[in-house]
Amino acid sequence: MLKGAALAAAAATGSTVFRPFDEAAAAAPSYRGIFGYGVASGDPTADAVVIWTRATPPPARRGGPVATPGSGLGAPLRVRWEIARDRDFDQVVDHGVVVTSARSDHTVKVDVRGLRPYTRYFYRFRTQGDTSVVGRTQTAPDERFRTHALRFGLVSCSNYTGGYFGAYRSLGERDDLDFVLHVGDYIYEYGNGSDRYGPDSLVGVRDAVPATETIDLQGYRLRHALHKADPDLQLAHRRHPWITIFDDHEVTNNAWARGAENHTPGAEGDFLRRRRQAYEAYLEWMPFRLPEQRRVPHQGIRFFKRFTFGELGDLSILETRQNRSAQVDFGTTNAGGFIPAGIPAVDAQLADPSRHLPEPEQLDWLKNGLSKRNRQWHLIGNQVIMTPVRFPGAILGAPAGTTLLNSDQWDGYQADQADLIAHLDAQSRRSGDAVVLTGDIHSSWAMDIPARRTASGYTPAGVEFVCPSVTSDGFYELVRASRPTATIDQAVAATQGVVAAVVANNPWISYLDGIGHGYTLIDVTPERVQADFHLTPLPTVDRPDPRIDEDVQPVYARSWQTLAGSREISPADGPVGDRSDEPSRRGRR
Ligand SMILES: [Fe+2]
Repeated sequence: MLKGAALAAAAATGSTVFRPFDEAAAAAPSYRGIFGYGVASGDPTADAVVIWTRATPPPARRGGPVATPGSGLGAPLRVRWEIARDRDFDQVVDHGVVVTSARSDHTVKVDVRGLRPYTRYFYRFRTQGDTSVVGRTQTAPDERFRTHALRFGLVSCSNYTGGYFGAYRSLGERDDLDFVLHVGDYIYEYGNGSDRYGPDSLVGVRDAVPATETIDLQGYRLRHALHKADPDLQLAHRRHPWITIFDDHEVTNNAWARGAENHTPGAEGDFLRRRRQAYEAYLEWMPFRLPEQRRVPHQGIRFFKRFTFGELGDLSILETRQNRSAQVDFGTTNAGGFIPAGIPAVDAQLADPSRHLPEPEQLDWLKNGLSKRNRQWHLIGNQVIMTPVRFPGAILGAPAGTTLLNSDQWDGYQADQADLIAHLDAQSRRSGDAVVLTGDIHSSWAMDIPARRTASGYTPAGVEFVCPSVTSDGFYELVRASRPTATIDQAVAATQGVVAAVVANNPWISYLDGIGHGYTLIDVTPERVQADFHLTPLPTVDRPDPRIDEDVQPVYARSWQTLAGSREISPADGPVGDRSDEPSRRGRR
């Protein structure tokens, strides 16, 4: 998603309801204690989960240098890990010792195996007489001949300088999730200068570290550490395992296989070197299990992977940046921006079958997975919108009557898009139904994926739910920036006008909210997949003081669903209730 201009916020009020935020720690990475970056877990399968922490060596002497993230400083540390069935660690089921050092930025990652399916566990780390907080995690509900409920939070686009992570806090406070799925833009690369991304009201309050754009290993390590020092994000990691995949901003804006919109060769070095270092920091700092590399054909590093949940379904995690062809560039400014549709020369480029979004090997792997039978649902964790969307040009300042598309989405890679949608359309009902789960565009969507046109409209081939951003600028902020003198009510009305125009142009869209930030709760049963949208009532940019507690957390807004076999969106009555079953938890919580 392209970055819009920030808008000066309204004057601060005299309120004193501040959040418990460690501003000093955010401003500069000083010594936060050995386990000051919290704990995390991720990539749960039926018998394994990855547990993570960073163990910062204590300074050798008082006032001595601190082994801050990215510093390369600090002696190796032996770190003991433990995983138990109970929070008090009376029933430890496994433990071990790992050595970490500056080579991995003192991050610690253990792939704990031999666990029981659909079971809750607690884990912690110890070294040098210190003990981490206790993390809670659970293995996947994946047992043969048994179907469990599946419920998770879907998030994307957490720009640190864009606002507080209320969505993460809300997810951390939930007690009913199997995991959190983050589909990209966990960090952003921008600095605090003219490239700053976010409201002016947060300047000096919530600044980027490092202060300049991340372009090398040290920068990316520091940026990940900044996020892992955030208390709301720490809570969400401590309470649930996460499944994550990067999009572009974990490297730089609108990245493709050999370059990016926000990369200047020469001044910012070699793109592939930069990307290698960004991936290195990502793999160090995220509870991400690198999948087996040899057996599945792929290009570069294989990041795409699949999780299974018994007969209920599976979740294919796509990776669509590393090998994608360059975006069709119309004009000179933004590679991967909105471009006009309907111009023959441009349309021919967009449809060129030699251009790819995932590499062909990955697309084949995905299609094979979608064809697996005896699974009701094929969930797809995806970065950029897959459904065709045509934006009325007038809403983006183009001449009235023109139509634009986002060339960074699947719409910019129409051979792959058409191939995948045709595959979904041709799938036997015995192969179940596809549900695409997407982020990137900083707004909330529920829509059918249209396949064949019919006299009365189209045949739906599956559905796509798009989650809002955690903090990054959405339609509202873009509208606000383009109308600096508008009141809040006028900006809200203008945003709703934009949204209505997009929906009118694309009859397969059931829902589009361009104002709220937050998360989407996804609830999967054999009968249906439901998406509950939880959104902030007022955008960050318009909060009198962005640190005031009550405006930061999203509240329930709207629900949509898709019924098994229908392959289309329908309204849902209200938010999901209690789970029909719970993971096994013999110990105390
Ligand atoms: Fe984003």
